[in-house]
Amino acid sequence: MSPKRTRTRDIPRQGNVEPKTLDALNAVIAASKPLVPGATRAVAGEGPVGASIAFVGEQPGDQEDREGRPFVGPAGQLLDRAMSDAGIDRRGVYVTNTIKHFKFRQRGKRRIHQKPSAGEVKHYRWWLDQELKLVHPKLVVALGATAVLALAGKSLTIARFRGAADFHGRAGFITVHPSYLLRMPEQNARQQEYRQFVSDLQKIRELAATRDAMSSLTGEAREGRKAHTE
Ligand code: URA
Repeated sequence: MSPKRTRTRDIPRQGNVEPKTLDALNAVIAASKPLVPGATRAVAGEGPVGASIAFVGEQPGDQEDREGRPFVGPAGQLLDRAMSDAGIDRRGVYVTNTIKHFKFRQRGKRRIHQKPSAGEVKHYRWWLDQELKLVHPKLVVALGATAVLALAGKSLTIARFRGAADFHGRAGFITVHPSYLLRMPEQNARQQEYRQFVSDLQKIRELAATRDAMSSLTGEAREGRKAHTE
């Protein structure tokens, strides 16, 4: 039987209190009830505050829900391999999800992933926004349609909008979700799509490095101006 859904109006709001640190935000998230009962725990983002790149996925899967860490299951392993092929060190980037709880339907012993609704994306967006404010990455990467909906505030076709993007003043990048590659049945098509994904990650690395260099230049210019006027 599928778990009973909590009605959106039953969900306590966070009000206007903005946590001052990522740990404080994660404590709020950890104490919250899932929209769809059944998930073991909320899965918080992972990675250093101030990371140049933040990757945003959809929601924790079965393994992430059990381990309490984002992107550790099959999609995460593929993401790790593609990052490594693109020269990105996962330990230096921030990885999180739009939705912090696993939404699933029980089928026998298996927990089958369920796509979040637009209302659920909207509900969790406040947390994601606070999280990104605190991590303050140079570039935010939307992995797949759910992250695009949360970050852009509307649905955009990945095939059409793939590449650099602007998420309400945040520099962004739109690409596919790694589980899209896992679902492709045909090996040649999957390999081609994998190469395209790695190429996107290389562009992401270069874009973030350019933005890093630009901000340290403007930082230096500001420091220079300050030194001049002191
Ligand atoms: N898919 C996601 O979007 N996030 C995870 O953490 C795992 C799978």
